[in-house]
Amino acid sequence: VKRTPIQLCNQPLLLFSIAPDTLCMVCKNFKKGQCLQGKDNCTMEQGPGCRTRDFFLFSEKGRWNLNHTELDCYDFCMSSNYYIGALKISTFCCKGRDFCNKYTGKEKE
Ligand SMILES: *[C@@H]1O[C@H](CO)[C@@H](O)[C@H](O)[C@H]1NC(C)=O
Ligand SMILES: *[C@@H]1O[C@H](CO)[C@@H](O)[C@H](O)[C@H]1NC(C)=O
Repeated sequence: VKRTPIQLCNQPLLLFSIAPDTLCMVCKNFKKGQCLQGKDNCTMEQGPGCRTRDFFLFSEKGRWNLNHTELDCYDFCMSSNYYIGALKISTFCCKGRDFCNKYTGKEKE
């Protein structure tokens, strides 16, 4: 019995897999507008998954000072403020624009 190979060309279904992916910034240590460590990028296929996390430390003067920012992709990203003792982590999420998480945090000021 002679088999004909399955034809994979001209698949209209392929069009549906071309979703508008968002490129996000990845950085392990972002300070004063530049990435000092672990610069990369990642791709989110759907949802607000470009994440910015500002890490604040509580100072002796009673203020929250920005220590550094981390940028990455996270499927379950949710904007929030999270406190662990003298550490505060502010999370921002965005989507739909490439590298939209670059300046969404406090670093932009
Ligand atoms: C994304 O990162 C890869 C390496 O990890 C790099 O080759 C590529 O140029 C980057 N793309 C953009 C748009 O920065
Ligand atoms: C503060 O930032 C430095 C990098 O500049 C990092 O090594 C350190 O772990 C950070 N501290 C906290 C508590 O996140």
